[in-house]
Amino acid sequence: MALIDLKNIHKHFNMGEENIHALNNINLSINEGEFTSIVGTSGSGKSTLMNIIGLLDLPSEGQYFLDGVNTTLMTDDDLSKYRNQKIGFVFQSFNLLPKASALKNVEMPMQYASTYNKDISDGMIRKMALETLDKVGLSSRVHHLPNELSGGQRQRVAIARALVNNPKIILADEPTGALDSKTSEEILTLFKELNAQGTTVIIVTHDSGIANRCRRVLSMSDGLMKDSVQVKI
Ligand SMILES: Nc1ncnc2c1ncn2[C@@H]1O[C@H](COP(=O)(O)OP(=O)(O)O)[C@@H](O)[C@H]1O
Ligand SMILES: [Mg+2]
Repeated sequence: MALIDLKNIHKHFNMGEENIHALNNINLSINEGEFTSIVGTSGSGKSTLMNIIGLLDLPSEGQYFLDGVNTTLMTDDDLSKYRNQKIGFVFQSFNLLPKASALKNVEMPMQYASTYNKDISDGMIRKMALETLDKVGLSSRVHHLPNELSGGQRQRVAIARALVNNPKIILADEPTGALDSKTSEEILTLFKELNAQGTTVIIVTHDSGIANRCRRVLSMSDGLMKDSVQVKI
């Protein structure tokens, strides 16, 4: 059974007179443990697709099965919990809370998890956040604020935040878009390591160097998708 299974997904945005067809009949299955990149020109539907896979937005038509559950039938509250359990997000602009330390930023998704899972204590949240910051190589920066960190370090905090609930899937939308090439390389290496440990990773990227190192590449154009598997990488 696929971890991610999209069936006949459409997404329309109604903008007054205009109806934008951002996704046009997407069918996609991704198995647990895959490392996939999504490429395509600006406006081709990549972020819209990521938002639907990440349960941040709902399709206009079609069915989405995530880890065996038909999410199309879930309530908003259940969608939030399921998203929090299954998915970690990484964005181009990091999206960290500016007034919170690295540690507090990483604790955030687990704090939300503790509101519906009473087995999660404050002590566990602290311990997991510290362990996860250590995993991304930031154990010496836990009390720093985002503006006291480099771009690469901020993205590592964001990756730790994405990982803290031990999600099955990491969704990264242009995660290296704001980073120099050396730092991008380090972040890609970190994603590869996480994938080797079992996490399913999906990266939207403009960087052909990154896409060329993924076996599976999904190319988007005008809301349509071409799925290709590279023999040699
Ligand atoms: N919230 C929205 N409201 C209206 N139109 C949107 C919205 N989000 C995306 N779109 C439109 O959908 C299309 C795909 O956008 P997007 O998924 O952001 O593309 P990409 O990430 O590939 O650059 C674009 O034409 C964009 O303008
Ligand atoms: Mg985008």
